[in-house]
Amino acid sequence: MIGKFSSAKILGIETSCDETAAAIVEDGNRILSNIVASQIDIHARYGGIVPEVASRQHLLTIIPVVNKAMTEAKVTWQDIDGIAVTFGPGLAGSLLVGVNVAKAIALAKQLPITGVNHLEAHIYANWLRKEKPPCFPCLCLIVSGGHSDLVLMRGHGQFEKLGRTRDDAAGEAFDKAARILGLGYPGGPAIEEIAKSGTPCLSLPRAWLRGSHDFSFSGLKTALWHYVQREEILTTASSVADAAASFQYAVVDVLATKTIKAARELGVRQILLSGGVAANKLLTEQFHNSSPVPVLVPPPHLCTDNAAMVAACGYYHFQTGKISGYDLDVIPSLSLG
Ligand code: KG4
Ligand code: ZN
Repeated sequence: MIGKFSSAKILGIETSCDETAAAIVEDGNRILSNIVASQIDIHARYGGIVPEVASRQHLLTIIPVVNKAMTEAKVTWQDIDGIAVTFGPGLAGSLLVGVNVAKAIALAKQLPITGVNHLEAHIYANWLRKEKPPCFPCLCLIVSGGHSDLVLMRGHGQFEKLGRTRDDAAGEAFDKAARILGLGYPGGPAIEEIAKSGTPCLSLPRAWLRGSHDFSFSGLKTALWHYVQREEILTTASSVADAAASFQYAVVDVLATKTIKAARELGVRQILLSGGVAANKLLTEQFHNSSPVPVLVPPPHLCTDNAAMVAACGYYHFQTGKISGYDLDVIPSLSLG
């Protein structure tokens, strides 16, 4: 694969959380197939992800998902140039399934393998586009179920973490708020949907953490909880919609204001959004309306967990000679930059 920079096909594998995913991506930007087997229905009855259930489900679905990715892309193993797999951060038992399957295939088919950081992969969802690729330096906001990271990217593989969450991640805050409001799991889409029929009329607190690029959402979540206890809002549908709209607006306000301020200070050329919360329409609208520099956002199905982003990231790893050995292991607490 090294030295072969055109028509290079990478198999991406992603099993860090509750999606079993495999994809084939050509030249780091053309998706030939992108298969995601979601476990959402299985975990929804528990109101959140059950790690043991997740890893067992990955075991059941990973081989069919990889086979489907190969079939849909109309490729054989001879066409594949390398394998990229998420090795962290994530749930240990879930990560192990993807990493071991990737290593077994690499060994059997004599293919190079590269371990990919899931957060880096989220950023690379922005390279999965037909138009011009992103340009450096850019400021990346990764907002997912486990992370709210603000990262300066100066080039491929060059990351400097500027800020992170001090407590709940943005997606986690959406999930917890949805539970407080008696809505479904995952919370982000549920809140976004019901918020359409509400207005952001409640004044909920924002943790600005001035002088720092960090985020904090647990105070906002607690304020919502107190409001629900006080007002017994669960009795009327319209007040639930207003509470959801107010919560969503508060999260979006903090994420957009702090990120855009940092982008101005740093003089970056673009802002790249990624992660499940970047699928939120209000968030992207707020960024597009207020940012002085272009804002890139992947389509919603590439914001949430998928393997095409892992393959895109892996393509650049191979280009820069970042290859893993068969001793590649999972790192559940891996961070970026
Ligand atoms: O990136 P992702 O698929 O998985 C992780 O790496 O965590 O993100 C999942 C998170 C969940 O917390 C979910 O509630 C949130 O992204 N999410 C959203 C939306 N879609 C997914 N949050 C707000 N608005 C959405 N439309
Ligand atoms: Zn993710």
